Parts: sequence; structure tokens; C-alpha cells
Amino acid sequence: MKVALAADHGGFRLKDEIKKWLESQHIEVEDFGCSCADSVDYPDYALPVAQKVAAGEFDRGILICGTGVGMSIAANKVAGIRCALVHDSFTAKATREHNDTNVLAMGERVIGPGLALDIVKIWLETEFQGGRHARRVEKVMEIEAKHLGVK
Ligand code: RB5
Repeated sequence: MKVALAADHGGFRLKDEIKKWLESQHIEVEDFGCSCADSVDYPDYALPVAQKVAAGEFDRGILICGTGVGMSIAANKVAGIRCALVHDSFTAKATREHNDTNVLAMGERVIGPGLALDIVKIWLETEFQGGRHARRVEKVMEIEAKHLGVK
């Protein structure tokens, strides 16, 4: 499994914790920044991760900002991305089983590193259930194909 990771200034500390944990688990990870508290714009960091996951260069993406909201909005603008904003273990599991999400967003200002790492572990380990959920995900992707880019 290859994971692409990025954060803005509101999330780089948690991003670094997640990177350390992924490396400790021997999970391949590439860090797309940022790495300090200097103010940056979250779409600039969400975009490369989302594009690389959509292109199949990485299996999953993880994005951290202050709330996770900006990162999730930006990532979901990229065709092929299903990004979930997750701050609890139940949703981490359900969004893999039901939505086949390929990008995870979290907020460093919302949860602590212990819960965040639990979420990452569950989200990476949980398989998509397919079946009726596949039909629903396909319908979402049809909406994207028909409407993304239409003003
Ligand atoms: C940055 O202050 C903050 O707006 C950003 O990290 C994020 O929470 C946006 O959704």
C-alpha cells in the first residue's frame, strides 16, 4: 500500500505523527508538505495528493488541516476522489465499507493524535463491502461524470 500525505499549517504536526506511524508499520508513504507553521493555503496541498491518488500513483491519500473541512472539500473536487472527513472510529470503518473512500481528511484542531492514529489504522485496514454499496458508489461517480466541471 502506498499512501500520499499532506497538510497545511493547521495540520502539519498531526501529519508528521501519522507519517512516523505509517513508517513504523512499514507502509510506504510520501509527504507532500507542509512542514512548518508558516501560513499556507490548503487547496495547494490537497490537489497534488488527490491527483496522485486519482491517477493510481498512490492507493490512498491522507490530508490534515485545522478542521479537515477545507482539505475534504478541495480533494472532492478532483475526479475519482471520494474523500471522507472523519473524527471517529465508527465512521472510519463505515466510510471504507460503504463509500470506498480513497482519501481521508482529519482536523488537527478537532482530535488528538491517539484517536487520529486509530482512525488511520481502521481506515487503511477496512475493505469495501461492495454489493449494494457498489451500486451507490457507482451512482455517485455518475453524478461526478455528468456534473463536475459544469458551471
Ligand atoms: C487554517 O487556519 C484553517 O482554515 C485550515 O487549516 C482548515 O481548517 C480549513 O478548512
